[in-house]
Amino acid sequence: MSAYSPSDNRYKTMEYRRCGNSGLQLPAISLGLWHNFGDVDDYKNCRKILHHAFDKGITHFDLANNYGPPPGSAEENFGHILKKDFDGYRDELIISTKAGYKMWDGPYGDWGSKKYLISSLDQSLKRMKLDYVDIFYSHRPDPNTPLEETMGTLDLIVRQGKALYAGISNYRAAEAEKAIEILKRLGTPCLIHQPKYSMLERWVEGGLLDILEREGVGCIPFSPLAQGLLTNKYLVGIPEDSRAAKPHGFLQENQVNPGTIDKIAKLNQIAQERGQTLAQMALSWLLKDKRITSVLIGVSKVEQLEDCLQSYSRVIFSNDELSKIENILNSKN
Ligand SMILES: NC(=O)c1ccc[n+]([C@@H]2O[C@H](COP(=O)([O-])OP(=O)(O)OC[C@H]3O[C@@H](n4cnc5c(N)ncnc54)[C@H](OP(=O)(O)O)[C@@H]3O)[C@@H](O)[C@H]2O)c1
Repeated sequence: MSAYSPSDNRYKTMEYRRCGNSGLQLPAISLGLWHNFGDVDDYKNCRKILHHAFDKGITHFDLANNYGPPPGSAEENFGHILKKDFDGYRDELIISTKAGYKMWDGPYGDWGSKKYLISSLDQSLKRMKLDYVDIFYSHRPDPNTPLEETMGTLDLIVRQGKALYAGISNYRAAEAEKAIEILKRLGTPCLIHQPKYSMLERWVEGGLLDILEREGVGCIPFSPLAQGLLTNKYLVGIPEDSRAAKPHGFLQENQVNPGTIDKIAKLNQIAQERGQTLAQMALSWLLKDKRITSVLIGVSKVEQLEDCLQSYSRVIFSNDELSKIENILNSKN
């Protein structure tokens, strides 16, 4: 692949949304590197996806210490591509990473202690060949570490300049409220919360979104396509190159079950009536809520990315469409 030079039109079409009450704006679509960027994946394809994303105004790339497989390899590959292709563009990028799930053996390679978070971020920076990340997340709450220690470590990391902003992920409403309060007291406001949220996973609607709005914290839903279920790809079986078919994919075959597929087929019908693909409609449906700063998608192909990009300009739904969608999502089959 020849040398990459970003498109001059990269800021012409993307919508940028303010992240809570902060000064930071994020693209309506952000790209995550959980799957498809490890050593098991095609490096040329990784490069192609990153180039296309940046060309289309996607400035935010989301990683974590353990993304791969093997764990760490997504950060390494990303770091390699950054150096090769994005040299000189660091100030146009928002790069996030996280620690909170198991990364190495022993008592210091998991959860939310100061020891783990500091060591892990140092390792992530080395793998990505970066001096700092833009956002560092506590990847999940740790029931055995005082929240003050985990949040105090995020505050320290920001003060050390190893991250510009602090975020939390997978914190339930009450835990998030406490974490946000501690960070506020320490003087490092919580920038953003990264929860799982899609048409098929709606727990955030039961309180979390209200807290984030009240506290001026942004929200970036992960797996907004339910790992690919909310697309038309599984309507006629499990394609060979899909996440559900891959041995290292986190989407299990039994999640592609007749009850879910029946709902997906009905949602697909509504999407077609709207003149959208189901993937586009699933993202538009999230982005219709102004509390959503950005949706954090994954893609295995440039064509999927291109498809998803047609979502943020179509966020108006009629009441009739919304109630039909609601009926499908709430139906028991
Ligand atoms: N904080 C956390 O705990 C946490 C957890 C999970 C994820 N995340 C973050 O969220 C990011 C996104 O998660 P995700 O990959 O599960 O997101 P997703 O967008 O729900 O699913 C991505 C998958 O959907 C399929 N897809 C995407 N666009 C498509 C299209 N237009 N048409 C057909 N299929 C399409 C692809 O599947 P195929 O691969 O089958 O082609 C792709 O790999 C991750 O990379 C990570 O950064 C965070």
